[in-house]
Order: sequence, then structure tokens, then C-alpha cells
Amino acid sequence: MKIVETVAEVREQVKAWRQEGLSVGLVPTMGYLHEGHQSLIDRAVAENDRVVVSVFVNPMQFGVGEDLESYPRDMDRDAALCEKAGADLIFHPEPSEMYPQDFSSFVDMSTLTGGLCGKTRPIHFRGVCTVVSKLFNIVTPDRAYFGQKDAQQLAVIRHMVHDLSYGIEIVGCPIIREEDGLAKSSRNTYLNPQERQAALILSQSLAEGKKRLETGEKNADKIRQAIVDQIETEPLAKIDYVEVVDWNNLEPVQTIQGPVLVAIAVYIGKTRLIDNVIQQ
Ligand code: PAJ
Repeated sequence: MKIVETVAEVREQVKAWRQEGLSVGLVPTMGYLHEGHQSLIDRAVAENDRVVVSVFVNPMQFGVGEDLESYPRDMDRDAALCEKAGADLIFHPEPSEMYPQDFSSFVDMSTLTGGLCGKTRPIHFRGVCTVVSKLFNIVTPDRAYFGQKDAQQLAVIRHMVHDLSYGIEIVGCPIIREEDGLAKSSRNTYLNPQERQAALILSQSLAEGKKRLETGEKNADKIRQAIVDQIETEPLAKIDYVEVVDWNNLEPVQTIQGPVLVAIAVYIGKTRLIDNVIQQ
């Protein structure tokens, strides 16, 4: 497995693979990899001849006052995990390699990005779409792998690929959880032991919502309220949002008919965590 830092080196490697007729999968990440990321890499390794993992904490998707500086980084550990999982190349650029001083083009989306996480993080998806676009152009993969953990991101990337005719298959992968139900996240490292315990309220309240969906509740507000009520029993939790939206267009729904996404964002202390369930 190689680790490269420049766009030119990625292009050279991918070109060589293409000349051999090999397929290429891409797993975009911000590093500090855990079993959630690993599940994406495993799937990519199973479905492609060669796999590129990008590790880049993308400054453009962090707002003012967010955790860009404190975001955890450990390249040695990430490299070991990628190697073990069977990845072939890590692309680990410096911010200046991705965004030279004269950088001035952005990928912005006028639907899907205004609600849910877009409400409290208004510039976030512009940063995500721009960096993922660049990664697609640099790696030119056949397939790219994204987790349902970031359900809105998955929907946004699918839509971007459709709008901009990328011709890349977007593979959505299920949420990987800790044994007690907490969705794995690089940001879980911010939690102290008491907060780590309190964070269980996310998956527990969603389980309650899921139970109601499965037993045929069609009133979205009742499901929403049940989740809100449960989260509010946890003193360390502060709700950012609890939403029941149409999984196809991310618009809020009143009556549940088609596929829905139940998505939540909750502060546990200072740490903002997200989780969701999708009912097809
Ligand atoms: P990051 O948070 O590092 O996540 C990289 C990928 O791993 C995303 O597709 C995310 O949904 C997936 N992932 C994270 N935790 C997961 C879990 N518990 N189960 C399954 N998949 C999980 O998402 C980003 O980075 C960035 O926004 C990025 C797409 C790399 C653009 O900068």
C-alpha cells in the first residue's frame, strides 16, 4: 500500500491501473478511522480491483467555531487500518494541495442542503460537495462508498452525481455501531465517560421511533415527539434537531407513506452527535 500526498501521484497510479484494465473504488474520509470507515473499505475491496482511501480533514466543510483544529488525527493508525483492510493507496493531501491560494470554484446545491444539518451548518455541504467533486475528478473511481451514518450527505452526494453526470456508482453502507448502540464516530473521542454514557440516548430514542414506525404509526409528529420526549430525559443532552423527512427529497412529512428518514442531531455536552434510521 502506498501513501501519496499529491494529485499528480494519484493520477499516475490510477492511470497505470486503468492501463491494466482494473476497476477502482474510492472511500473518502477525514481520517481517525474506526470500524464504520473500515466497513466501507471492506466493501470497496470486495467490489473493486483497487481501492483508494482519501484521508483529508477538509477545512472547507467546517464553519467558524467548529472543531477543525481539534478534529482527531492519527495517520500512522489510519495507514495500519487501511493496509490491513486491503486498500491499495491512501491519498493524504495537505490543504494547500487541495486548495491553492487562487482557489475560487465551488459546488453548491440548491436543494437537499437547507434542512437537517444544513440548518445549523450552512456552509457544510458546499464544502463537502466541493471536496468530494475534487476527489472524484482526481481519482476517477468506478464506485465511491459513503455511510448511511451521514444520511443527508449520502443523499446530497447521490444528487450531485446525478446532476453533474459523474458516471460514478454511489454505494451507501449501513451504520456501524458500538455494542451498546452508539453509532461509531471519530467525534466520540471528545466524550468523557459520563457523556459517553449519556450519548446512548441517541440510539435509544431512535429505537423507540423505529418501534413506532414498525408497528404502523403513520403520524410523523407523534414519532418525532416520542423521540424528543425521550432525549429530554437525559440532562446532558441538548437537541439540535429531530426530524422525520421523506428519504427521497429530505422534505418534512406529516403522514408517513413512502420511505422516511428519521434523523437527529444532539449535543452531548459540547459534542454534536448525529444518528438516524431509514425505513424503506
Ligand atoms: P468522515 O466523517 O471521516 O466519514 C467518512 C465516511 O465514513 C462517510 O461516508 C461516513 O458516512 C462514513 N461513516 C462514518 N461513521 C460511520 C459509521 N458508524 N457507520 C458507517 N459509516 C460511517 O463524511 C466525511 O468524513 C466527510 O464529509 C467526507 C465525505 C470525507 C468529505 O470530506
